[in-house]
Amino acid sequence: MRTKIVVGNWKMNNTIAESEILAQELIAALGENFSGCEVGIAPTFLALDAAGKAIEGSGIQLVAQNCHYENDGAYTGEVSARMLTAAGCSSVIIGHSERRQYFGETNVTVNLRIKKALSEGLNVILCVGETLAQRESGVTEAIIASQVREGLMDISDISSLVIAYEPVWAIGTGKTASSAQAEEVHLHIRTLVAELYGKEAAAALRIQYGGSVKPSNAAELFAMPNIDGGLIGGASLNAADFVAIVKAASH
Ligand code: 13P
Repeated sequence: MRTKIVVGNWKMNNTIAESEILAQELIAALGENFSGCEVGIAPTFLALDAAGKAIEGSGIQLVAQNCHYENDGAYTGEVSARMLTAAGCSSVIIGHSERRQYFGETNVTVNLRIKKALSEGLNVILCVGETLAQRESGVTEAIIASQVREGLMDISDISSLVIAYEPVWAIGTGKTASSAQAEEVHLHIRTLVAELYGKEAAAALRIQYGGSVKPSNAAELFAMPNIDGGLIGGASLNAADFVAIVKAASH
């Protein structure tokens, strides 16, 4: 039985003060409502400290949105995995489609970042997903397979890994993949992971869905056998909506 995991990816939203307030609102609204479900928030780097302090002792996990693959050095604008661990993060999102689309992230750099993050003791959420053009031309499974294979190249232990399937066409568009469409890709990912890492590792791997998850569609998505929670963008910026989604994943 896999424990569901719901993470709010706040993306480039909220100042330090706003992040602190949102974290406090979340704690107040969540209460004890997330038994049987792991919950995390991913504020901007700048707000990790303040949000981290606000959620201290609550059981909510502090997640970063990215990390670099070197420990330190001349990489203007970047933050290393080592710094995230020291800042209290337990996990990091790597390979988000917005990083791939706008910041030149490739499967090769995703792989380097994952290796470094794991070596620093962070849990990793690896994001994969196809664009609309790729879906329409029938290459969804091939694209996802190369993102998983190349992203995990030379990584032997996936016990600290979560994969997030986020179809690019469903992110921030209001168009959610149907639960059947999402389940089909999640099953494909699990089958591929079984080929690469064996049945047991594949059965234990959590695969989140992301892309316009809302309180109104969360329960149906999370009820699918291979959907183990969600990576939530827009709806995670509103405490009540995020809590409703967490409740849909809890029991
Ligand atoms: P939305 O929930 O805003 O579609 O974003 C999903 C996402 O990209 C989470 O990482």
